[in-house]
Amino acid sequence: MEDKNVKQKEFWSGAGGDVWVNKQKEMDIMLNPLGQRAIDKLDLSNGKRILDIGCGCGATTLEIAKMIPEGKIIGVDISEPMLNQARKDALEMSLSNTEFVVQDVQTDEISKDAFDIAFSRFGVMFFEDSYEAFKNINNALKVGGQLSFVCWQEPLLNPWQSLSIQVIKQFIDLPAPPPKSPGPFAFEDKSYVEDILDRSNFKEINIDDNQEEIIMFSGKSLKEASEDYLTINPVVTEMLKNSPKELKEEILEALIIKFSDFHEDHGLVFPSATWIVTAKK
Ligand SMILES: C[S@@+](CC[C@H](N)C(=O)[O-])C[C@H]1O[C@@H](n2cnc3c(N)ncnc32)[C@H](O)[C@@H]1O
Repeated sequence: MEDKNVKQKEFWSGAGGDVWVNKQKEMDIMLNPLGQRAIDKLDLSNGKRILDIGCGCGATTLEIAKMIPEGKIIGVDISEPMLNQARKDALEMSLSNTEFVVQDVQTDEISKDAFDIAFSRFGVMFFEDSYEAFKNINNALKVGGQLSFVCWQEPLLNPWQSLSIQVIKQFIDLPAPPPKSPGPFAFEDKSYVEDILDRSNFKEINIDDNQEEIIMFSGKSLKEASEDYLTINPVVTEMLKNSPKELKEEILEALIIKFSDFHEDHGLVFPSATWIVTAKK
């Protein structure tokens, strides 16, 4: 059988996954408020069974587990290192209503009609075939089950991405990844998201515009935050992977200058724009 999502598996179970494990605290400070907007849409009453898609190091899985003492939440992801971190944290927090499973949400079979809720914080934009993935997610939900996730809008509204790509392009002549290709911005186009959900048999599709400031790499100096930035983003690491060390240093210097307008005492503070997407089976 043809192997799918190979590049993503390499990134998230390799260097990218390790970086996310190391930087998880800072990433959670940045992403928690945005994930909360999608959690706020959920009906978490009475013993719900929940699927956390692309749960990574499990911040949202554990947060929701605390809110559903009689329910159960299963975090699924393709990244071994990130899931190991999640399991460790669940043990430390004595949360027994969670489980973490290595699963490719696009291609692996998920139990049918098994979940009341499918949730994700930025874990649904990395599929080679999003239509196949969301059909799989739809199958996993019970009839009437809820879907809620948060994803990024276009890079121009998220200057942490657009400014850095501007900088990198001054040094490397690389075509931008084709629209809709797996990556943080695959779901920037609202009508594309609507079409995926519609063709995967979701109903009551609702996509809210959410704009708020985010704090990136909290507590880090401008140089540290810029260095971290270059390792955490799969699009950027892919662009830089064949660059010599000297070129990477030049890019870092230019990025520091570009990001300096956004650096405050508590980290890089950027405006952000996300879609908060909900639907029902
Ligand atoms: C941007 S990270 C978000 C992680 C986590 N939800 C968070 O908010 O901290 C994207 C996650 O999606 C996971 N992912 C990518 N492709 C996947 C797939 N096909 N099936 C399951 N998880 C996937 C990655 O391994 C990664 O953990």
